[in-house]
Amino acid sequence: MSKSKASVLFVCLGNICRSPSAEAVFTKMAQDQNLDLVIDSAGTAGYHTGAEPDKRSQAIGLERGYSFKGVKCRKVEPQDFETFDYILGMDNKNISHLLEICPKEHQDKVRLFLSFADLQEKEVPDPYYGGKKGFEYVLDLIEEGAIGLIGQLQAS
Ligand code: 4NP
Repeated sequence: MSKSKASVLFVCLGNICRSPSAEAVFTKMAQDQNLDLVIDSAGTAGYHTGAEPDKRSQAIGLERGYSFKGVKCRKVEPQDFETFDYILGMDNKNISHLLEICPKEHQDKVRLFLSFADLQEKEVPDPYYGGKKGFEYVLDLIEEGAIGLIGQLQAS
């Protein structure tokens, strides 16, 4: 029997800035490496359900060649803990929220995204109330995390 595709869910608070950016970056990097994966993103809060990613995130991502086509905001659902192999929070608050609702048998799937990168920074900070520089920094961190995660998946 063939091995099923590995699956990755990126999670932040609103699912309009950090996690959809991670989804867009990781989707491109996986395609570039011919990795066939299931990739999605979601938020621990549902304030923006159905919305497109934040325009500021999209603008910076598009400048760097990432596509946000079809990316829409949704809230984390109980089924996600069954479906996904990797459930990657952007910051420690996301991890706490996820662990509160994640069944015990799946808690080892919940990890900080930047644990895959070799960086001083351990969390991707929320850029929502800041300026353009914050969004650029977020994308820098996401690119590092995505490179690390690609390496891990290629090695496994
Ligand atoms: P995200 O950023 O968690 O990276 O999507 C946020 C987006 C919206 C809000 C907070 C964070 N908000 O409070 O509406």
